[in-house]
Amino acid sequence: MSESRLLRLHERLPELLLKSDAADLEYYGRDWTRRWTPAPLAISLPRTVADVQAIVRWAVEEGVGIVPSGGRTGLSGGAVAANGELVVSFERMNRVLDFNAVDRIITVQPGLLLENLQGAASAHGLFYPVDFASRGSCSIGGNIATNAGGIRVIRYGNTREWIAGLKIVTGSGDLLDLNRGLIKNSSGYDLRHLLIGAEGTLGLVVEASLRLTDAPAASNVMVLALPAMDDLMQVFAECRRRLRLSAFEFFTDRALAHVLAHGAQDPFEQVSPFYVITEFDAADETQQAAALAVFETCADKGWVNDGVISQSAAQAASLWRLREGITESLAPAKPYKNDISVRISAIPAFMQAMQAMFEREYPHYEVVWFGHIGDGNLHINVLKDASTTDAAFIVECERVTALLARTLEEFGGSISAEHGIGLVKLKYLAGTRSVAEIAVMRGIKAVLDPHGILNPGKVFAVGRVDSGG
Ligand code: MLT
Ligand code: ZN
Repeated sequence: MSESRLLRLHERLPELLLKSDAADLEYYGRDWTRRWTPAPLAISLPRTVADVQAIVRWAVEEGVGIVPSGGRTGLSGGAVAANGELVVSFERMNRVLDFNAVDRIITVQPGLLLENLQGAASAHGLFYPVDFASRGSCSIGGNIATNAGGIRVIRYGNTREWIAGLKIVTGSGDLLDLNRGLIKNSSGYDLRHLLIGAEGTLGLVVEASLRLTDAPAASNVMVLALPAMDDLMQVFAECRRRLRLSAFEFFTDRALAHVLAHGAQDPFEQVSPFYVITEFDAADETQQAAALAVFETCADKGWVNDGVISQSAAQAASLWRLREGITESLAPAKPYKNDISVRISAIPAFMQAMQAMFEREYPHYEVVWFGHIGDGNLHINVLKDASTTDAAFIVECERVTALLARTLEEFGGSISAEHGIGLVKLKYLAGTRSVAEIAVMRGIKAVLDPHGILNPGKVFAVGRVDSGG
């Protein structure tokens, strides 16, 4: 270990695992964005809260930035280390620490994978409801950092709703124990919520206490094929009126084509331009009959062309693959990702405006739409053609994103619904947050991270004065 700063870290924490091989720097220095060349100083893999505090104090003394790292499945560059930062990987802090059956609270380390948290909950006969396709590789620390949403927000809300308490290490190395699992706590500012969605810029989450709930009733999955975008919200209203929904997602024919090319099974004989996948309680015959009635009404009105309802758990999983496999099927094309939200009531007008804009601005690129339409959250992925370089593609996508940000401002929406600002959406924060709001955010950052070492350059550009908003 030739770097003198790393030697001093090693002297301070002789037991701390440090990695600095080229392959490790590459592996731990990036997330799913694949846009920045990883260039961290090294990777540290702490085991204890005390290790994390000592790392932060070392970073303050040495003036080294810290990039917290979970499963690195992020899509906004929040876990990218491209400027000589020390990556703090929580891979070895991945245990369940405690379960309290009376409180229904499970306490875990930040490196625990979402899937393992879900498994631990079900081993206690309970349910952790936040869920999405990367469950097998994303960590709970990363979920908290982005206030991750996913496919069941419509019933259960985002990660924020399930956080009963957090232990965090600030940018000065202090340990704060926030809320301690209390349901009622009207004793001043609830600092826990500042950390959720802060993308590791305000503190490092070293322990999380999460609420669990009852296991859900038996459910079925229905996929409907729609002839027109305008009908999406009518179908949503009908489903919401008659079914107890746990998911309502949509995707287009283009998204379906990619996912089928990656091995998913097509339940339909004919292609339709839009699809919805919905999951709903189907514990008894009345609920099952309601789903059929929804289908019949939608078909009679001409809102759907075709539909399929799962008849088994295996079929439900196969139908979910049509939606959950999209991200992975697009990944080889290195898509430019938009993750935007507006109020549900604004969706029809917003989608019309978006469709016109994307057709006008991207006549030569494939644009793939999917997402959590029941939450007002759309994912619009733009795919590069073979003749455009990566650099030219980003320049063009950023030009269009500036237009998109302006439209979102008119609709009162957000440039990031659930992926975070990270590095990717840095330039567009001021379209979603006012100048005064960003100034408050910077003030909070200055208090919790006075030396500016925590995930520097994420959420706000370092030292830049934000304009607009
Ligand atoms: C999803 O909804 O599938 C995720 O947010 C990932 C993505 O947008 O690609
Ligand atoms: Zn999503």
